[in-house]
Amino acid sequence: MTNHHHDSIRAVEWANGALKLLDQRLLPQQRTYVVLENARDTAQAITDMVVRGAPAIGVTAAYGVVLAARACYARSSTTWQGDIEADLDVLARSRPTAVNLFWALDRMRGHLAHVSGDPYEPLLAEARRIHEEDIAANRHMGQLGAALIAGSSQRPCAVLTHCNTGSLATGGYGTALGVIRAAYAAGKINQVFADETRPWMQGARLTAWELVEDNIPVTLVVEGAGAHLMKQGAVHWVIVGADRIAANGDTANKIGTYNLAIVARYHGAKFMVVAPTSTVDMTLSNGTGIPIEIRSADEILNHTGTRVAALGAAAWNPAFDVTPAELIDAIVTERGVVLSPTPQKWPI
Ligand code: MRU
Repeated sequence: MTNHHHDSIRAVEWANGALKLLDQRLLPQQRTYVVLENARDTAQAITDMVVRGAPAIGVTAAYGVVLAARACYARSSTTWQGDIEADLDVLARSRPTAVNLFWALDRMRGHLAHVSGDPYEPLLAEARRIHEEDIAANRHMGQLGAALIAGSSQRPCAVLTHCNTGSLATGGYGTALGVIRAAYAAGKINQVFADETRPWMQGARLTAWELVEDNIPVTLVVEGAGAHLMKQGAVHWVIVGADRIAANGDTANKIGTYNLAIVARYHGAKFMVVAPTSTVDMTLSNGTGIPIEIRSADEILNHTGTRVAALGAAAWNPAFDVTPAELIDAIVTERGVVLSPTPQKWPI
């Protein structure tokens, strides 16, 4: 397979003057697109998981600002720069944990002040840059992560990944899944385990789909299989993405990531976090300040619209957890690799 083929999926596109999102709630059964014309619908699409994954949320929000600016400027060419703040607030409230959202909104906001005249073209150009830079960062991280895997083992090895960190979760190519793509292409990985990732099944539905599309063999395991799998020595690296990394390297990622990090350390597997610097939050000295999204109990009580839990049961549904830096063997960013992150070494 060519690299071009490895990069054929796009979750977020700007097409015909509108934002086009691949509806990730319906994959892999249906390939349906949602077309968005305004910022409020864009925010709702992020909340509702039409688009998800930290960098993809950031890219989407950047295009959402373009939609907001176009509407505000059409209403008033003199007050639009103030008027747009309400839309920026709506976008900022769409999901709380992935810092890429706030990073992208800040970057777009920084551009607003410099625009004179119609903001549409300059802001669209900036959103496209955010998108393209994310893909370039992913490609670079893919090379860095693959080299790390190559240096850690003489023979091709097996890896386990959690959630979906691929083309669907980013501008394109992927973070952790980008490393897996690059390392597989280089012959450094011979087996990829993906876990289901409850309750949205990003592993089963999205990661497995991306890998199958790329002709990379994938073996699905249930959410709780990680410990049993690693006990057998079947996994050399656990490779995951991130939604927010604090200044000391503590890393928020999809709920269940922390479990895998503990199990990996106990069983001697290595643990790699792959994320662009747009995922780093230098305002937080450690992970305790990272806001963890609590989603609806219905996501656990029901499955694909059918009630599965006993009537009367309550449910608690945090969408993310925080893995302490001490359990992380490597953080890979587009600026380089940090081994065993400490506040002295991280960030770079
Ligand atoms: O709830 P989601 O699907 O948005 O959560 C996504 C994750 O946790 C990913 O691992 C993370 O955003 C990194 S994506 C490159």
